[in-house]
Amino acid sequence: MEKRIAVVAGGAGGVGEGIVRALLRADYTVIVPSRSEHKLARLTEYVGDIPAGKLITYQGAMTDEANASAFSQYITKTFLSIDLVVASLGGWHQGYPIYNYPWSDWQRILNDNLTSHFLAIKTLVPLLNSQNGCYIHINGFSADEQYPMAGPVSMTAAAQKSLVLTLAKELQSSGIQVHELILGPMKTRDRLKHGHGQPDWFFPEEIGEYIVKIQASTKNEKNLHYLLSKKP
Ligand SMILES: NC(=O)c1ccc[n+]([C@@H]2O[C@H](COP(=O)([O-])OP(=O)(O)OC[C@H]3O[C@@H](n4cnc5c(N)ncnc54)[C@H](OP(=O)(O)O)[C@@H]3O)[C@@H](O)[C@H]2O)c1
Repeated sequence: MEKRIAVVAGGAGGVGEGIVRALLRADYTVIVPSRSEHKLARLTEYVGDIPAGKLITYQGAMTDEANASAFSQYITKTFLSIDLVVASLGGWHQGYPIYNYPWSDWQRILNDNLTSHFLAIKTLVPLLNSQNGCYIHINGFSADEQYPMAGPVSMTAAAQKSLVLTLAKELQSSGIQVHELILGPMKTRDRLKHGHGQPDWFFPEEIGEYIVKIQASTKNEKNLHYLLSKKP
């Protein structure tokens, strides 16, 4: 049987790298773009113990339309379509009340936490297998809560949620599933290195295992939200 093809946007990040590990273990071919050669080398080393699957790294990212189009062409040169997209993009930032947030941080957060998602959708959804492709959006629960001193991050999380809900409606009559996973704090490698992490937090790899199950088992269910904040 042909291997399933996944793109993990943000796959060189703290959450993304665990998702990549789980997909490789499930024998996916996994394409990971990153702006950083160093991060791609770190990822390659991190998954080096997994005999299954195949990791393809791509230096460059969907930071603007030209880069996004180059990435799309790179994928279509080798593959007819892709089966799974995971968007694990953006990050956390806090430190100021909204009325005092630095302009440069506002601009960067909009770019990293919102525009990157728009470009991922615009670039990768048209490449998904229209019969049974799956788009997984990773978000945090700050979309639905007030986060004093982290206004731009929680605002972009809410905007991401709106974007993905709309995408799900737009794809409702297609064969493509759209799911959003809403995560609480994760036991990422960097966090554990600094001695942080609670027993009931998930490891990123567990999120990847969950994604493998979603794609395998929800053939008739579409456009769901899953809250994976803490282990029961
Ligand atoms: N870590 C947690 O505990 C946690 C908890 C809840 C939710 N989440 C969610 O999980 C997702 C990933 O978080 P993370 O902790 O893994 O963050 P991370 O380690 O900083 O990784 C984020 C990834 O996003 C990519 N990225 C950022 N800005 C970009 C831009 N402008 N254009 C293209 N790519 C960009 C980076 O790509 P490069 O490789 O090119 O740098 C990086 O690989 C986010 O949606 C976050 O809200 C995380």
